Amino acid sequence: MRILVIGSGGREHALVWKIAQSKLSDKIFCAPGNGGIAKLAECINIKADDIPALLDFARKEKIGLTVVGPEAPLSQGIVDEFKNYKLPVFGPNKLAARLEASKVFAKELMAKYKIPTAAFKIFDEADAAKKYIDKLGSACVVKADGLAAGKGVVVAKSADEAKQAVEMIMEQKAFGQSGDKVIIEECLEGQEASILVITDGKEVFALASAQDHKRVYDFDAGPNTGGMGAYSPAPVVTKELFKEILDTIVYRTIDGLAKEGVEYSGVLYAGVMLTKDGPKTLEYNARFGDPETQAILPRMKSDLVEVMLAASCGKLSRLRTLEWDERPCVCVVCTAGGYPGEYNKGKEISGLEDAGSLKDIVVFHAGTKMLRGPSAELEAKYVTNGGRVLGVTGLGNTIKEAIAKTYQAVDKIHFEGMHYRKDIGKKAIVQHPAL
Ligand code: AMP
Ligand code: GLY
Repeated sequence: MRILVIGSGGREHALVWKIAQSKLSDKIFCAPGNGGIAKLAECINIKADDIPALLDFARKEKIGLTVVGPEAPLSQGIVDEFKNYKLPVFGPNKLAARLEASKVFAKELMAKYKIPTAAFKIFDEADAAKKYIDKLGSACVVKADGLAAGKGVVVAKSADEAKQAVEMIMEQKAFGQSGDKVIIEECLEGQEASILVITDGKEVFALASAQDHKRVYDFDAGPNTGGMGAYSPAPVVTKELFKEILDTIVYRTIDGLAKEGVEYSGVLYAGVMLTKDGPKTLEYNARFGDPETQAILPRMKSDLVEVMLAASCGKLSRLRTLEWDERPCVCVVCTAGGYPGEYNKGKEISGLEDAGSLKDIVVFHAGTKMLRGPSAELEAKYVTNGGRVLGVTGLGNTIKEAIAKTYQAVDKIHFEGMHYRKDIGKKAIVQHPAL
C-alpha cells in the first residue's frame, strides 16, 4: 500500500519510521517531510496545510492511507475532504478536531459530560474577564480559545499577571481570532501525563503512557516549548490510575461527542494532571503528541498501519489488543540555541551516523534538511532547519539505562548552538527509584 504522512517534525519521522516496518507498507510519501524522513520516504514539496494540493496528490498517486500529523490541517477539515473522495485517512474530522481547536468547545463538553477538569469560566469580553480575575484575586490560568502554536496558555502567579495575559490575548490579539474568547480557570497542581488512544469512535486502543517536558531548561525552568523530551511509560500512571483516566476522561469524551452527533476517529490525546483529587483533564489534542510519539512508537510491537487503517474505516473491533515492548524509552530533544525564541538555521550537524549506529538508539529528525553530496556515493550532509532539530531516542532495560544510553548518543552529536535538557526522565527515577 502507498502511504502518505503529512507533517515535517520529529513526530512525523517517528510515524514514517514505524510505518516503514509494516508489512502493509510498499511506498511512503511525506509532505513536506524533513532531512531524516527523506531516507525512508519520498518527501514532496507540499505544505502540511495545503489541503487542495494534498488531495490532488493523494488522488493522483492512489494513496491507500493518509496519516495526518499536525493539528492545522485537521482543524481545517482535511479528513472531511479526503473522505468525500473515499480516500482512507487517519484522523478526526473537522467537527471532532474542535476538541483541540477550541478550548471553549472542549471545556463545555467536559462540563456537560462530567469529565474531570479544572473549574473554569468563559469570557468573550476583556473587561469582564479582568473583573473576574480581580474577584478571584489569586493565581489562575488564562487560555486563548483557539489554536496558538502552544503559546495560548498562561499559568499566572498573580492576578496582575493574569490580567496582562487577558490583554495580550484579547486586546493585542497576539493570536488573532483565537483570542476572541478566553477561559479563566483554576490552577491545578500535580504531575502531568499524556494519555493517547487510537479510536474509531467505538473501540478504543490505549497507547503506552508518556510524559513530556515542556520547559526549555532543566528542572522545568524557563519558557514553554513544543516539548524538550519525553519518556514512556510514565510510572506515575499506575495501572489503577490508567483505568481511572480511561473511564472518567477518555471514554466519557468519546461517548459525550457521540451524544452530540460527533464521531471521533484517530488519535485522542488527553493531557492529564494527576491531582490529589484524582486525574483532571488539562487539554485535548486531536493528534499524536510531539515528542511523546518518539518515545511511544519504539515500544510498540503491533503493526501501526494495520491499526490506523482499521480505525480510519471504523473496523478497530476486528483487531486484538496492542502489544508493547516492556522496556522504557526516552527521547531527548536537541534544539537550536535560542529556541523557543530567535534561532539560526543552516548549521551543519555532525555525529548522526555514530549516534544512530548505537544499539537501541534511533535519531529522529525534526528541523533538519538534507544536503545531497556531489555524487550518490558520498554521504548526505544534514543541516539544522528549525527550532527543535533532533529527537535522540533510546530503549533500555530500566529507565536509568534508557536515559544513560540516550545521553551517550546525544554526546556524539554536535551542531553550533546545540541545546538540550540534561534531566529528561529524571522524574521517573525520583518517584520510582527501583526503576
Ligand atoms: P495546554 O496547552 O492546555 O496543555 O496547557 C499547556 C500547559 O499549561 C500544560 O501542559 C500545563 O503545564 C499548564 N496548564 C494548563 N492548564 C492548567 C491548569 N488548569 N493548572 C495548572 N497548569 C495548567
Ligand atoms: N507534547 C505536547 C503536544 O504534542 O502538544
